[in-house]
Amino acid sequence: MTAVSRDNRPDIADLLAFYVSAGVDEALEEEPVNRFAEAASKPPERAPATVTSPTGENAAQPRSTSLSRAEIGERQAAAPAVRAPSGTATVPDEQQAALARQLATTAATLDELRQHMAAFDGCNLKFTAKNLVFADGNPNAAVMLVGEAPGRDEDIEGLPFVGRSGRLLDRMLAAIGLDRTSAYIANVIPWRPPGNRTPTPHETEICRPFIERQIELVNPKVLVNLGGPSAKTLLNTTEGILRLRGNWRVHTTAAGIAIPAMPTLHPAYLLRTPAHKKLAWRDFLEVKAKLRALG
Ligand code: URA
Repeated sequence: MTAVSRDNRPDIADLLAFYVSAGVDEALEEEPVNRFAEAASKPPERAPATVTSPTGENAAQPRSTSLSRAEIGERQAAAPAVRAPSGTATVPDEQQAALARQLATTAATLDELRQHMAAFDGCNLKFTAKNLVFADGNPNAAVMLVGEAPGRDEDIEGLPFVGRSGRLLDRMLAAIGLDRTSAYIANVIPWRPPGNRTPTPHETEICRPFIERQIELVNPKVLVNLGGPSAKTLLNTTEGILRLRGNWRVHTTAAGIAIPAMPTLHPAYLLRTPAHKKLAWRDFLEVKAKLRALG
């Protein structure tokens, strides 16, 4: 930072106002911090309090026993990952995606899945995120909603959809008689991408097995895809969300169970484009009708 003489010093309030209007929402230090090195000595992440009920993990059959943190570490070491220049952090590669698949399939419960994800070092997003954002809501719910990736508020709290778009989502759920005790909410990507950037296709592929297994373990009657990235990742399509939304699709689990899925507009998009709220309202009415029909 350039030195500023006392007389020339800008008014701090003006400077802050300028930063806010320029979209700056994080205070950074003058020297870069090596988060990769920090992550190597990070203690294990704590579980969000609301995601607990292993008894609620209904239909999906356990395929194997849980792996200990040490076993996960051994498998990570065995996967010859590319190393970042610091030598401490793993850069995603195909072996890491394979390990994610293995860890996901060996999780017999949601608690095990959360533990496997917390111990997994194969996605670089973990090293810049504060918390694993696993899920919120009721794992016994008939409806599961899946967004794209946590933002700043979600990263801080370790829970999905707790910021502005989360508050809108809560209102949308309330409009069809649901809340977080009767719905389960997660994201395709469980770690906040730095600066809320779009997750890369590689990051999405690495995280995909985790969300697929999470859906399988929850086994909802109805899946709601919030936004294009969730719909594209979980419904195996390249179509845009404005074309997809409002039409029932199917998400097929690894075990071959077909779950009706409703792609709809992401609450963050609706905050920017309120005129489209009526479209999301129609989609949510479809979800309500489907839930009623399925009993
Ligand atoms: N947007 C998402 O897709 N997920 C969140 O959890 C928050 C915002």
